[in-house]
Amino acid sequence: MIIKNARFYQNGKLANKDIQIEGGSISAIGSFKGKGIDASGLFVFPGLIDPHVHLRDPGLTQKEDFHSGTRAALRGGFTTVLDMPNTIPPTTTKKALLEKRKIAGKKAVCDYGLHFGATKDNFSEVEAAKPPSLKLYMGESTGSLQVGSYAAMEKHFSTFPKDKPIILHAEDADTIKSMEAAGLGRGPMAERIAVLKANEAAQKAKRVIYFAHTTTAEAASLAKSRRDSLVEVSPHHLFLSTDKDLRYLRRRSNVYPPLRTEAQRTALWKMLPRVDTVGSDHAPHTLEDKAAGAAGFPGLETSLSLFLDAYNKSILPLPWIVERMAQNPARIFNLKKKGQIAKGFDADFTLVDLREEWTVRGRDLESRCGWTPFEGFRLKGRVKKVILRGNLVVDDSKIVDEVKGEEVL
Ligand code: DOR
Ligand code: ZN
Repeated sequence: MIIKNARFYQNGKLANKDIQIEGGSISAIGSFKGKGIDASGLFVFPGLIDPHVHLRDPGLTQKEDFHSGTRAALRGGFTTVLDMPNTIPPTTTKKALLEKRKIAGKKAVCDYGLHFGATKDNFSEVEAAKPPSLKLYMGESTGSLQVGSYAAMEKHFSTFPKDKPIILHAEDADTIKSMEAAGLGRGPMAERIAVLKANEAAQKAKRVIYFAHTTTAEAASLAKSRRDSLVEVSPHHLFLSTDKDLRYLRRRSNVYPPLRTEAQRTALWKMLPRVDTVGSDHAPHTLEDKAAGAAGFPGLETSLSLFLDAYNKSILPLPWIVERMAQNPARIFNLKKKGQIAKGFDADFTLVDLREEWTVRGRDLESRCGWTPFEGFRLKGRVKKVILRGNLVVDDSKIVDEVKGEEVL
């Protein structure tokens, strides 16, 4: 198979070439005869990677499962997703990981990885399961998964292999408790304290840590004061704020960490050059659960388009998207054959029309939750085709084929 007239970034420069695919991998880049998929008028990304999604399977499949969630991924332009461990049961034992692996093997239609969860005492399970990454909740979030103490966090920092990342939900448990008791909600102070504590412990343990969904410029720059600390941002903290969007989000606005003020949102934009990745933090809940206070937003099907729209408004360069949504996640999470358009890499591609405008509608999405915090947003830039290991799975913005997703290790 050949992708004809592909416009993409090759070694930092815009190229217009054909891409030849054999056996699911990129076999050559150049100029080739023969028929293929015509990419004229489209821009080609390496298949995008979302390092932060909650696919809810097992245990919460009324919200999402590996099938609906990976369909949402493809539709949103992601060929690989990394799933979070706060399922039921949580992915904190070898047994739970093997069980989730089995389910994902049956249902997933894009490639995936499975993050493992850290608890106060599951050190032998982590060692037995040998997961590629570890997620550590420093404070309370959806479900009961938490590391429980700074002593346990430090022990995980020193025992988990140094060549694999530890992902942090950085909100300090005690600060959350006292702020909430004082009626102050989960302010940025909980995040700031968690970042400081985690950085200090990571420095002692000499290890890489990865801050998920960083919400303020202050937290991001504190995190980045250390070389081996990586920073992820999520679309909702960049495109929604408490001043601007609470009125229409109403009872759906809850998310951890919370949306911040408009001033904090715009300050976070200024940090984007130093940010390492985008994670959608796709955290679907039913509307019923949202009305009862559940925290989290679906994000897989809007993440890329929001950034393409920002590109169209000249506030974000295209290479930033390539790096933060493909290249860097692949490097950080050791996905050796993903994230680049180069010979030998998996033939995963996300083809977008940079000019097409569309309106976000919850009812049109693949996600089982059926709503979006970006309802009614008019976005310029849309996923048109997705190719997963050489298979055309999205065409004309719709899913046209399903192939078995593979676990990336
Ligand atoms: O808002 C959130 N929702 N924050 C999290 O940390 C977890 C997520 C979920 O799983 O619902
Ligand atoms: Zn999350």
